[in-house]
Amino acid sequence: MRDPDAAPVRLADYRPPAWTVEAVDLVFELDREESEVEAVLALRCDVPGAPLRLDGEALALRWLELDGRRLAADEFHLTPEGLEVFPAQGLARCRLRSRVGLRPAANTRLEGLYASGRLLLTQCEAEGFRRISFFIDRPDVLARWRTTLRAERARYPVLLAGGNRISERVLEDGRHEAVWENPHPTPCYLFALAAGPMARVSKRLTGADGREIELNVWVEGEDPEPCRYALGAVERALRWDEQRFGRCYDLGVFNVVAAQDFTMGAMENKGLNIFNARYILADERSATDADFLAIESVVGHEYFHNWSGNRVTLRDWFQLSLKEGLTVFRDQEFTADLHSRDLKRIEDVRLLRGRQFAEDAGALAHPVRPAEYREINNFYTLTVYEKGAEIIRMLHTRLGEAAFRAGMDRYFSEHDGRAATLEDFYAAHSAASGVDCRDMLAWYAQAGTPVLAVERHFDADNGRFELRIEQRPPANVPGAGPLPIPLRFALLDAFGDELPPPAVHDAEAMPGGGLLLRHARHVLRWEGLAAEPLPVLNLGFSAPVRLELAYTALERGRLVREARDGFARWDALQALALEVLLDQAGAKPSPESKAAEAALSDALGALLGDTAAHPAFVAECFVLPDIDTLADAVPVADPLALVAAREALLARLAETHAEALSARFAALEAAAGGGLADAAMAARRLRHALLPLITRRDGGAAARALFAGARGMDERFAALRALLHAGVEGAEAARARFAAEFADDPLVTDKWIGLVATRPQPEALEAVQGLMASPFWRPANPNRVRALLGGFARSNPAAFHRGDGAGYRLVAEQVAVLDAINPQVAARLLGAFEGLPRWAPAFAGRARAALAPLRQGERSRDVAELLARLPA
Ligand code: BES
Ligand code: ZN
Repeated sequence: MRDPDAAPVRLADYRPPAWTVEAVDLVFELDREESEVEAVLALRCDVPGAPLRLDGEALALRWLELDGRRLAADEFHLTPEGLEVFPAQGLARCRLRSRVGLRPAANTRLEGLYASGRLLLTQCEAEGFRRISFFIDRPDVLARWRTTLRAERARYPVLLAGGNRISERVLEDGRHEAVWENPHPTPCYLFALAAGPMARVSKRLTGADGREIELNVWVEGEDPEPCRYALGAVERALRWDEQRFGRCYDLGVFNVVAAQDFTMGAMENKGLNIFNARYILADERSATDADFLAIESVVGHEYFHNWSGNRVTLRDWFQLSLKEGLTVFRDQEFTADLHSRDLKRIEDVRLLRGRQFAEDAGALAHPVRPAEYREINNFYTLTVYEKGAEIIRMLHTRLGEAAFRAGMDRYFSEHDGRAATLEDFYAAHSAASGVDCRDMLAWYAQAGTPVLAVERHFDADNGRFELRIEQRPPANVPGAGPLPIPLRFALLDAFGDELPPPAVHDAEAMPGGGLLLRHARHVLRWEGLAAEPLPVLNLGFSAPVRLELAYTALERGRLVREARDGFARWDALQALALEVLLDQAGAKPSPESKAAEAALSDALGALLGDTAAHPAFVAECFVLPDIDTLADAVPVADPLALVAAREALLARLAETHAEALSARFAALEAAAGGGLADAAMAARRLRHALLPLITRRDGGAAARALFAGARGMDERFAALRALLHAGVEGAEAARARFAAEFADDPLVTDKWIGLVATRPQPEALEAVQGLMASPFWRPANPNRVRALLGGFARSNPAAFHRGDGAGYRLVAEQVAVLDAINPQVAARLLGAFEGLPRWAPAFAGRARAALAPLRQGERSRDVAELLARLPA
């Protein structure tokens, strides 16, 4: 293991590579216990006289050969981190041949070459290739790749690697061989192979540029049918990227493999995407609607990387958001175009405000482009992904679709086959649009969420209305300067009609409407108004900021009814709920609290009765702000008080609307039976949002009936959740039946385990401990760890923050255990403590005490880096 105390990597220290790999020829002799890899690297020196250094970790070096000559032990220097080849120094070019041994079955980190079930798989991003072969493991070294896979035919009948397959043949001794070639210049983090007994679903199609393409989705075993939905999603993604971005696929085959053991969600390796099985396998019997939608979105995301990430890759890992933020923006647009734009925005903003804002205000806050890191795996965060996507969205809002598209075309063509920076991206957009948008780069450099504090002034005598807008730095980054903010807004008159834009302002108008605010202070003025208008700011969440604008409960109620777009209406409802909950938890007293609750309750009542309203939208309105969002709205929070306030409000709403809730639930029963059509999913979304409220009053009758008569997993799981979380009669029987029925399906088992872990009661902790002592506990399987401990730590505030500190201790202890198995999984779990600086003192004290023992032992770089950032 590398030294966790080594100096951090700094953006400012970037230097182009002294040596580069022009071509790679790899030969794998695959076996789960002992694999052998022979690599021939065609190397070129670009800095005459520079030493040749290669990265390599956990490799058993068999021998090295330079330009055909076997090297003696004193001709190279081998360390735990790599290799220096002395006789290469001074050469302009050379061929280095190496042979190493690997032990895939013993690789629990799931980085490099590892075993999952009967499959052998690789995961190389960010720095995993160095665990497969000696290499210059950095994204700005782009090579051409040829991969030969050899293995026993009976155990590994399918042999896949990146690029196109150019040959296959049978060898002696029951072995066989396949050769793959990727003609596109590609960094090693995008290398992949997959071998083993797999079945596939497949489709041939013709790309918009006339290319014949074979799409395959593979899974271990004999039955590929659960891959069918994902295959359709690949096709939709391919067509969407052709149409919306003019981007075509660039190989003859696109392979996707589902893996039961996978640390992350999925990986965009060139021509061979490898996915966590939960984002591939689905049928109506075993997958919820949310699962299907997540599959489509993740399939899209990885497919879209083929241009934003692969064809144009990263100069260094500091630029991570250049591919991830941009690709999240692209997958968000894909989902918005295919389904509902309003709903997608609501979901994305919920995630951003609940989780990214909290991350950006907590102990682990970092800029989207950090200045330094110790372990890059710790920077695949909501900030890099979601805030990164928001910055791209702001650029899109500022330029409009046509100019944005022109900028994207220019970026792709200028940097095709090369490694780029964020500066390159904004330079391409500036050149294509004629608008210098390089000022957006400031968003990447500072952590924290800016505040827009807005005051309204109405001068009735002169009919003059002003919005005085002040941009304040984030609370945790006091010195930060003003950032460019594209602000969309509307003013409603007394009839709910929108007024024209302000007559006077000192900001720049944007093509699609709205203003670009560049300064710390702006004043927008309207003239000649008969009555005071009602402003709606940050429409569609046009900028990722905290908006401070005081409204009365009455005004918010008007916004819920009168605002033009669904997002603004939903947002006004959330604001009402937030005001009530913060008041009742004693976190932020509000004299308007009673009125706000009345307005909220009336609005929800009206939505329940409004059969014209989109059921999925109504469902989102019934999902009150979660504890993360509530805690984030105040400087210091008592998590248990927030939990209690939220439970109490839900109970009152359930009581007030009891009849209407049951009536709407019943009325949607037929519509909810319509399979995977959007309308049926929307009906289920609303029924299942209402069910927990209904269960509070009917003792579980509706949920038990739904469980018994469920027409698919979406209904089954919603019913089980309502029963288990309410702890009503029949809950345990339903859980046992569900568990038995799906005992051989690890993904469905994760589902019920996740429900046990998130039951909003302090005793969920003992239930989690019980499962950890059972055969269900599989600490080497990231999905199982996430379902049980991730669910507990991140989605069960009632138990995690338990007053005796046992929740914190359980998680901290398991971080230590998991760190020895899979450091990335352990580090992510430790992230549950990021909010510690803003927890009320008693909670923070217990959490610090729980973390103290972790600081003693030897830790991975991943965990050590995060521990150092959490307050001791
Ligand atoms: N490139 C990442 C996968 C990755 C993440 C590799 C971290 C190595 C370290 C991939 O494109 C990705 O972003 N996957 C996401 C899902 C996506 C839909 C946001 C993931 O794995 O969570
Ligand atoms: Zn990605």
